[in-house]
Amino acid sequence: TGMFTYDPGFVATASCRSAITYIDGDKGILRYRGYPIEQLAKEASFIEVAYLLIYGELPTAVELTKFESTIRHHTMIKETLKNFFDGFQYDAHPMGIMVGVVGSLSAFYHDSLDINNPRHREISAHRLIAKMPTIAAASYKHNVGEPIVYPRNDLDYCENFLHMMFSNPCEEYTPDPVAVKAINTLFILHADHEQNASTSTVRLSGSSQANPFACIAAGIASLWGPSHGGANEAVLDMLNEIGDVSQIDKYIAKAKDKDDPFRLMGFGHRVYKNFDPRATLIREVCHEVLENMKDNDNPLFELALELEKVALEDEYFVERKLYPNVDFYSGIIYQALGIPTSMFTVMFAVARTVGWVAHWLEMMNDPEFRIGRPRQLYTGAPMRDYVPVAKR
Ligand code: CMC
Repeated sequence: TGMFTYDPGFVATASCRSAITYIDGDKGILRYRGYPIEQLAKEASFIEVAYLLIYGELPTAVELTKFESTIRHHTMIKETLKNFFDGFQYDAHPMGIMVGVVGSLSAFYHDSLDINNPRHREISAHRLIAKMPTIAAASYKHNVGEPIVYPRNDLDYCENFLHMMFSNPCEEYTPDPVAVKAINTLFILHADHEQNASTSTVRLSGSSQANPFACIAAGIASLWGPSHGGANEAVLDMLNEIGDVSQIDKYIAKAKDKDDPFRLMGFGHRVYKNFDPRATLIREVCHEVLENMKDNDNPLFELALELEKVALEDEYFVERKLYPNVDFYSGIIYQALGIPTSMFTVMFAVARTVGWVAHWLEMMNDPEFRIGRPRQLYTGAPMRDYVPVAKR
């Protein structure tokens, strides 16, 4: 009709103003609140980055201690929430459990419905960040048929997550420093990425003044798809399917074949057309973890390195500027740490909760805040008259 700009997939439309994350896709730059991702990934703790993303500045030592203790204060889930897990089939995908359980939280915390009160908004944000690892680990425990492990508030955020995943009533998990460091780095790299599909979903949900728990559940649903956060799980499935370096050419040909739906998972990005700076960092962590786990001849890592090499030399991938993205190597690290494939996207969700919450809070404080309401170009039938069923 010419009345609206047509931009399927929002390739050229800025949906908001945001001061949280900066990306230059051509140069491969990613910054949180101005700080380069490379520096944060190497030096900071995940909770420090969470504070930075939400409040806009790095915390002082006093602010950090206070924020850590606030988050610790909220790590427990209500005892009755535990019943939710029992309602799922033992083999339910943990992302399905996450969508349901996180979506239910507003029913437990009624102050979350009071979205016009900044203090209540902040408490909901803290609760989400604190409870996400507890709920994520509980969804895994449900899968493996073990009792839910309570959080331990003497541990830091990442240690505590591994504790809730791997401790059981008979044996306490001793945090492995290499594993803790790897999780800390991966969580920082996944914490925010401006207006990706799931964050835009959280914003659009929140624009109707829905409560934050419902909005984050919507974000989890959007993240689940294999084009987005589901890619880390899909990469591992793909590597297992390829199985051996001798099969790489066959799969590269499949990825290039437009009649074949197969895509090289963990490759390509809407914004990065040079390289994904997170992938460069994750590749390094992958080396570190595998060396420390004495697993340096991990066949999947070898296969991934070779697949990357072949694709990067292939005209198809070069022409289209397709490079490995953040998810190409993250699954291999998670697998080496003993985290099952079905939990990979849940790990992403735990980390991205910080970004979702930061964007939701920013939007709620935005003076230009109004309901999101995209328009369309109508392509359906013109006006026609109803015909009774007997006459059709
Ligand atoms: N394998 C083979 N061909 C590809 C791939 C791939 N992974 N990615 C893009 N292409 C081709 C695509 O077929 C198209 O070719 P042509 O121009 O001949 O039609 C061209 O490259 C441009 O692709 P597009 O689909 O228009 O690009 P997009 O920006 O809409 O999609 C993407 C971006 C990430 C969804 C896509 O690259 C993809 O499906 N990658 C695999 C899934 C994946 O790894 N996703 C994780 C993204 S990073 C983490 C996250 O966001 O959560």
